[in-house]
Amino acid sequence: MLLLHILSLLATALPALATFPTKLLYQSPTEFFENIAVRPNGKLLITAVTSPTLFTIDPAASNATLDAVYTFPNGTGMNGIAEYAPNVYAVVVSKLNDTTRTAELGSVTVWRIALTTRHPVVKRMAVLPDSKLLNGLSPVPGVPHLVLGADTYGGIVYEFNMRTGATRIALQTPVIIGINGLHVRHGALYLTNSLAKTLMRVPLTMNGSAVTFSGPFEVLGGIQSTAPVASFDDFTVDTAGRAWVATLPGALTLFTPHANGTWSQENAAGDPAGGKSVFAQPTSAAFGRKGKKDGRNLYVVTHGGQLVRVDTGCEE
Ligand SMILES: *[C@@H]1O[C@H](CO)[C@@H](O)[C@H](O)[C@H]1NC(C)=O
Ligand SMILES: *[C@@H]1O[C@H](CO)[C@@H](O)[C@H](O)[C@H]1NC(C)=O
Ligand SMILES: *[C@@H]1O[C@H](CO)[C@@H](O)[C@H](O)[C@H]1NC(C)=O
Ligand SMILES: *[C@@H]1O[C@H](CO)[C@@H](O)[C@H](O)[C@H]1NC(C)=O
Ligand SMILES: *[C@@H]1O[C@H](CO)[C@@H](O)[C@H](O)[C@H]1NC(C)=O
Repeated sequence: MLLLHILSLLATALPALATFPTKLLYQSPTEFFENIAVRPNGKLLITAVTSPTLFTIDPAASNATLDAVYTFPNGTGMNGIAEYAPNVYAVVVSKLNDTTRTAELGSVTVWRIALTTRHPVVKRMAVLPDSKLLNGLSPVPGVPHLVLGADTYGGIVYEFNMRTGATRIALQTPVIIGINGLHVRHGALYLTNSLAKTLMRVPLTMNGSAVTFSGPFEVLGGIQSTAPVASFDDFTVDTAGRAWVATLPGALTLFTPHANGTWSQENAAGDPAGGKSVFAQPTSAAFGRKGKKDGRNLYVVTHGGQLVRVDTGCEE
């Protein structure tokens, strides 16, 4: 049995650090952005809940444009995206209702899209007939073809074999009802729970080519803003083990682990209360990959259709 081990009492709230400088790179007049992946060449892949088209933006362009990569059939919107082999991605496509934040039953699908050749090569790999929303996706470092997916309402982590299409429930527990983003790093599954408004992690091990979770869950931190709509969306974990979490309605929260086992959390950019934030409902974040300097650029997408660059290499 998996035990919920609450460490949040140990998480210390530090005085606010100086926030990092931000720059709005692109504003869509129509799309609500949901997730982001960075290609090896530095270009961004962006999903929107309002479109079955996978988009790309070159963040280095002086006047960034939103360009279509591929439009998937039988869907109205997209959620998670994860690169599980070089330039090969898993994506979620479904018929989404953005008001109720649910997908039509039977419409939730996981696709493979390979961008290794001139034209995208796509294949539908899985259908989840019982899912009302498949949200974030993550590769499992060191395990080829394996991708994990977060079923928000089911409180489920699905495991997809992106070579065979084999699909399995890897974890199901009320503790993760509300799961939004998930990322495997350093032998653990990190996840945000939008309902519980927490960042958690649980140890992950391999049993052959299947993931198993040994527990306990650790709560690394939670919402400190009193804004009624405040919650966590998707996030990324950097090489130092820090988590950068898109925080509704308008902020980016940085979680830092300490040698004594505690975590601190602080506002890294934007305004946790929303207000005049540079972010209109941030949904996901990913670091640049085009050289050392770009590696410090954190690209944040928002439900408000923005792409914002956060320069984490220099404090404001
Ligand atoms: C940037 O691109 C948009 C869309 O293509 C165009 O309308 C606009 O004029 C461009 N702005 C500049 C400064 O080039
Ligand atoms: C799209 O939906 C139609 C009607 O349900 C179905 O016949 C078709 O196979 C679907 N196409 C794909 C690629 O899933
Ligand atoms: C989304 O759900 C709401 C509430 O049930 C409904 O009024 C609306 O028509 C739905 N939108 C679509 C596009 O189905
Ligand atoms: C590992 O996999 C084997 C074979 O599928 C199964 O019998 C065993 O129970 C699994 N062990 C754990 C800890 O899940
Ligand atoms: C753990 O380390 C951090 C950073 O040095 C410090 O701020 C915090 O007070 C420590 N917490 C405990 C419980 O020792």
